[in-house]
Amino acid sequence: MIQINKIRENVYQIKVNDVNAKTFHGALYPVVEGVSYSCYLVLDEQVTLLDTVEEKYFVEAFRRIDELLQGRTIDNVIINHAEPDHSGAFDLVMAKYPHAKVYTSKMGHNNLKKMFFKEYSYQEVTYGDNLKTGKYEMLFMETPMVHWPDNMWVYLPAEKLLFSNDAFGQLISDDAVYDNEVGLEKLLKFSREYYANIVWPNNSSVPATLKKFVETNWQVDLICPSHGIIIKDGINEIIEQYQSFANNTIKDKKALVVYETIWGNTEKMASLLEQTLIEEGYEVKKYLLSQSRISEIIDELIDTKLLVLGTGNHNNTLMPPIADFLERIKACHFVGRDAIAFGAFGWAQIPFAELKDRLEKAKFNVLGEPITNNFTPSKEASEEIRNKFKEMLK
Ligand code: FEO
Repeated sequence: MIQINKIRENVYQIKVNDVNAKTFHGALYPVVEGVSYSCYLVLDEQVTLLDTVEEKYFVEAFRRIDELLQGRTIDNVIINHAEPDHSGAFDLVMAKYPHAKVYTSKMGHNNLKKMFFKEYSYQEVTYGDNLKTGKYEMLFMETPMVHWPDNMWVYLPAEKLLFSNDAFGQLISDDAVYDNEVGLEKLLKFSREYYANIVWPNNSSVPATLKKFVETNWQVDLICPSHGIIIKDGINEIIEQYQSFANNTIKDKKALVVYETIWGNTEKMASLLEQTLIEEGYEVKKYLLSQSRISEIIDELIDTKLLVLGTGNHNNTLMPPIADFLERIKACHFVGRDAIAFGAFGWAQIPFAELKDRLEKAKFNVLGEPITNNFTPSKEASEEIRNKFKEMLK
């Protein structure tokens, strides 16, 4: 569904609400409320389109954009980020408006050429450059690695609008336009999950962008991201949230127990460890990986101190969901966190050394040796596991 939202007299949001989407970023990011993507149209003496939509939404989006244009042409196309959720329809837009000038970062130019193989009228822009469209002036600021090297923001001072592309995005895809329609709690919850799954792997790059943003002294009344709702009331809170992420803020007494089990013995161990953590004063969440939404677990990990990760022995290898999970967290650079490995086995303990090794490769500080148990934990074995685990927690 395409939603047109007039956010200023001459500024429109064109939002695609794909409420049926089950995942984002291919199959990597399972979602709960669909996916939304926005581009923006600024009408002035020159008409400017900020970003595009996915290629498959071009026809529907431009049926609505044409109504706003009333026969006018698009003079400028700004591409804040070349990822296909924002640039997918770029080539089709340029076919429709071949005389449009394209403003993008140096990396954006590089990426677009390699995606579309055409040399349009590109203008590479950097911090300090501006675009005058008549009464309006737009300012550019590169925001590398939030999410790709090419990302940038555009500021429209006359209206105090910040077009932030991926930054401050969230996968809320209902009819709400502004954050006050969904409430601060939902805004920050969805913003955090988006950040964890999309931006977090490049978290170390975010402080530089936030520092530069403060230096600009840009006064912002609306943050207009390319995913989700527009932020009006929660601007300070969402910026504080990003500062907290960028500072790698961790709750010392938060733990996640994540496991995969075949016949329930690793699950029994997971419950035992969860109970022990609760007794030791931890805030704990437990996930049977194959029955959980991995994007929620990645979200929970960003302020978690201790990951307790367990696998059964599957033909002397890690259980496939655990192997996949380890690959995911390796990309996230979760520094400053501890991990404990555990699991049940039948006649061989072969995968547990690999579990420990791969946690270390994912930059976790692994405490002790894996806690293992042969088949079902007996009463005595359970006590032994609890005691060993408590020692590790010390
Ligand atoms: Fe929404 Fe990095 O693309």
